[in-house]
Amino acid sequence: MSNAKKNAAEGALEAVPIDGAIGLGSGSTVAIFAKLLGDRIANGGSHIAVVPSSFQAYQLAIRYNIPLTNLDITPELDLTVDGADEVDKELNLTKGGGGALFQEKIVATASKRLVIIVDESKLVDRLGSRFLIPVEVFPFSLGMVTRKIRAMDIEPVLREAQRKMGPVVTDNGNFILDLKFPEPISDPFETARDLKMIPGVIETGIFPGMADIVYVGTDEGRYTLQRQDQGQ
Ligand code: A5P
Repeated sequence: MSNAKKNAAEGALEAVPIDGAIGLGSGSTVAIFAKLLGDRIANGGSHIAVVPSSFQAYQLAIRYNIPLTNLDITPELDLTVDGADEVDKELNLTKGGGGALFQEKIVATASKRLVIIVDESKLVDRLGSRFLIPVEVFPFSLGMVTRKIRAMDIEPVLREAQRKMGPVVTDNGNFILDLKFPEPISDPFETARDLKMIPGVIETGIFPGMADIVYVGTDEGRYTLQRQDQGQ
């Protein structure tokens, strides 16, 4: 297990209230966080229930005996803890490396605070620097969405499954296009809006202005980044 990821996850655990409902993101860093949360619950130090953001998160909750809730029972969550593929200087995020971006964005939007856990390799100047930007696409619209995105001078790559022929099918039965931008994104809000305007684009992996705090794990410890407009 990566020390850096564990250090980030331990930081987020300190931000989790003793009781209430939180969102559980997805990914390998969240998997470490889920284990820590499960240990805390088992030790009687917490009465937390989670809304999982993916099948993976659901299975983590089951594995670590973390009580489950949902957005009908708890439509407002204290916070969500999630990972990210890229974090820029304004704490805009790229997410969806594991294909779970749509439900992740719903759970994050239901939350008063979005807490992100990453190692330093995820920090970038601008989104799209190191990672393709995923969008979740309704299968019926794939050809049309591909054409519209190409017309925006962006190269869409259909994500192919591993150990199964054909495209990745998301938890929601959709496909993923990974977008290669000609250069890193200068305005994540505008880019996310433009993509979302295409009928058939279910959601984008750009999370602009959503993260409140980022725990950045290193081999030795961690530090935090806070959004500049916090508390203004
Ligand atoms: C899942 O689709 C993603 O949004 C993850 O949260 C993101 O890819 C970070 O995952 P890792 O913690 O595994 O890097």
